Amino acid sequence: MIGQDKRSLRIGVAGLGTVGQGLLRLIARRPDFVPGGGRVEVTAVSARRRGAVRNVDTSQMAWFDDPVALARCPDIDVFVELVGGSEGVARQAVTAALESGKAVVTANKALIAQHGAELAHFAESRGLALRFEAAVMGGVPAVKILREALVGDEIEAVAGILNGTSNYILTEMEASGLDFDRILAQAQTLGYAEADPAADIGGWDAGHKIAILAALAFGGAPEGSRVEVEGIESVELIDIRLAGALGFRIKLIAMARKGRDGVRVSVHPTLIPLDHPLARAAGALNALFIHGAEVGELFIQGPGAGAGPTAAAVAADIADVIANPKRPVFQSPAMSLGQGTGPRPAREREGVYIRLMVRDEPGVVAAISETLAEGGVSIDSFLQKRLEDVTSVPIVLTTHPAEAAAITGTLARLAALPCMTQSPRLMRLARI
Ligand SMILES: NC(=O)c1ccc[n+]([C@@H]2O[C@H](COP(=O)([O-])OP(=O)(O)OC[C@H]3O[C@@H](n4cnc5c(N)ncnc54)[C@H](OP(=O)(O)O)[C@@H]3O)[C@@H](O)[C@H]2O)c1
Repeated sequence: MIGQDKRSLRIGVAGLGTVGQGLLRLIARRPDFVPGGGRVEVTAVSARRRGAVRNVDTSQMAWFDDPVALARCPDIDVFVELVGGSEGVARQAVTAALESGKAVVTANKALIAQHGAELAHFAESRGLALRFEAAVMGGVPAVKILREALVGDEIEAVAGILNGTSNYILTEMEASGLDFDRILAQAQTLGYAEADPAADIGGWDAGHKIAILAALAFGGAPEGSRVEVEGIESVELIDIRLAGALGFRIKLIAMARKGRDGVRVSVHPTLIPLDHPLARAAGALNALFIHGAEVGELFIQGPGAGAGPTAAAVAADIADVIANPKRPVFQSPAMSLGQGTGPRPAREREGVYIRLMVRDEPGVVAAISETLAEGGVSIDSFLQKRLEDVTSVPIVLTTHPAEAAAITGTLARLAALPCMTQSPRLMRLARI
């Protein structure tokens, strides 16, 4: 077993960015972090720019321009992939490391969400470990909780805030009253958002993470490309304010829920009751709510990114590779993994928030109520609120749970009413 008969465990690290440098600093400070496992030593590294100034000393480590060559190097025991991306060099290097008999630790959610099942087969058929704790929720051990601690329970749903950038933007929009574009620009200046924020604000980053959590929660394979994804680009300040007036906060919620005929995995801006713990997770925090048949409700929250927290999760995986080298990659062995996400349950009913912008004239409220009643959609709460800086009058309502087809048909009929000044805006109400 790796490390047990050796005084030091040799690590090769591909990627010396935020997480890679964090890991090198952690290991330099605490090379003996593996309980009873001897010293951990980074013996070889790889990144794109050899001459880049980095906040770590790599002078005693072998340098590889190519992560695939590092992955094949016989002088390392564990290959740590911290480059990122579902394709290209990250995937090639992880495959090469497994081909050459090395355990792999990665923080790469895109790779695991898209190719996790295939890589798990490959690793397990060779008796090798593949670990990815840092890929979901950074420093919060969500993977371990679902894969190990809750293995005796039957999970019904997991729902969470899995993208710190989106949560930061929504939190700041509400606090400052500034619109999405202004807060995004601010977040980029402060380093809370990437120069290219598409994966974060478009919901794909959270989509990859919930695909992985769904696989662990429901014993399937991750199916990153089958997640329903809607990002926060279209969340308007007016909806944040009106949702607040109705007693809700808008959050980007990633959810995996077991229904009667499948598991639905989705990412949507969602209205959460103000007193729910997920509504109170502010700024760049990540948070996860887990419903288990036996345990009931669990809530975990913490830093979902950053050099220190993410490096600590990678280090825990290195320790796990030594302690439990034969543990399956997902909850059960790769050859017995079922479908992770499956089709959206057909008969699922959900409540929604609808914002209508209407001309201020008699008969409008009656026309809206009639249209909803005709569509079989019943109103839970209703608010007509004139806002100082808005010319037409917003009417917002929340509905009792209804089938998706009834909601869609009713929305089309509402949009066609002559009093409407804009297309209706629809958002989901939390069922958590
Ligand atoms: N940042 C976080 O807080 C966080 C949290 C959880 C998970 N993760 C995941 O951790 C991984 C790394 O993230 P990061 O934030 O550390 O990324 P990053 O700061 O962008 O660093 C990426 C590193 O990969 C290297 N690299 C890129 N392309 C390469 C290539 N073709 N050949 C060799 N090296 C290459 C870069 O080299 P140069 O430095 O020379 O450009 C850089 O050192 C990603 O999968 C990410 O999703 C990150």
